Amino acid sequence: MDLGIAGRKAIVCASSRGLGRGCATALAAAGVEVVINGRDQDQLAQTAKDIEAQTGGTVIPVAADVSTSEGQEALLAACPAPDILVNNNGGPPFKDFRELDREAMLTGVTQNMVTPIELIQRVVDPMIERKFGRIVNITSASVKMPIVGLDLSSGARAGLTAFLAGVARDIAQHNVTINGILPGLFDTDRLRSGFPAMAKLQNKSVEEVVEMRKAGVPAQRFGNPEEFGNACAFLCSVHAGYITGQNLLLDGGLFNSSI
Ligand SMILES: NC(=O)c1ccc[n+]([C@@H]2O[C@H](COP(=O)([O-])OP(=O)(O)OC[C@H]3O[C@@H](n4cnc5c(N)ncnc54)[C@H](OP(=O)(O)O)[C@@H]3O)[C@@H](O)[C@H]2O)c1
Repeated sequence: MDLGIAGRKAIVCASSRGLGRGCATALAAAGVEVVINGRDQDQLAQTAKDIEAQTGGTVIPVAADVSTSEGQEALLAACPAPDILVNNNGGPPFKDFRELDREAMLTGVTQNMVTPIELIQRVVDPMIERKFGRIVNITSASVKMPIVGLDLSSGARAGLTAFLAGVARDIAQHNVTINGILPGLFDTDRLRSGFPAMAKLQNKSVEEVVEMRKAGVPAQRFGNPEEFGNACAFLCSVHAGYITGQNLLLDGGLFNSSI
């Protein structure tokens, strides 16, 4: 399917690895000029090269912490008027909620709620003027389904979701859409980084833990960043102009509900 967005410009935050990288790759394959981002400069440069080689597209790497004003300035300097913004960031670490002090809570809320809102504030009016804009926020299935220990992450992302529900309706008339994608279990560094500790805790091998986690998903597997990226690219396409204020769960059926 031609997504109808060739020649458009995108900023994809936190995209040197994982889900963000999947989104950047799918957008580049659709002919979008993509700014990618991460803090590790070498990893970012390698990813830019890889995506260009894979898609033939133009990829501009911006090494920066997206949670900081300087990082956001650097992204907007590389792409002052994006047609597409994919908000993504690292998430707070797994922790008992009793151990979260005020500073940790403010950091989590800054990363996963304030930062995406700040970027939207910066890009939305030019999108409205051009009568085209696609904003996708990578949040988490934990917005719908609690995960004990990721309470701060869930709370900040649920706050973002509620905040943007009204904003999406307010700007819908201008062909500017805002949607969330809620990942379940996707095969990325972040997901895999938790397996050794889980294996130790349960006195199992890492392979056993991986198989157990997969078995808990109706699809019997983890998602992969490519399929995540393709769903994101569709929400950024010309065909998705009537989809706004939605939160798309990509979880292989993990969240058990009838609607
Ligand atoms: N994978 C899953 O199953 C899953 C499920 C639910 C929710 N999520 C959420 O989805 C998001 C992406 O997850 P992922 O699995 O793709 O993670 P990942 O594989 O660890 O990749 C994270 C990416 O974000 C970049 N990054 C992290 N902090 C950043 C910052 N402050 N500024 C700029 N770039 C930053 C990393 O690069 P640098 O480290 O070099 O900065 C890397 O490119 C996270 O918020 C995660 O909590 C993931």
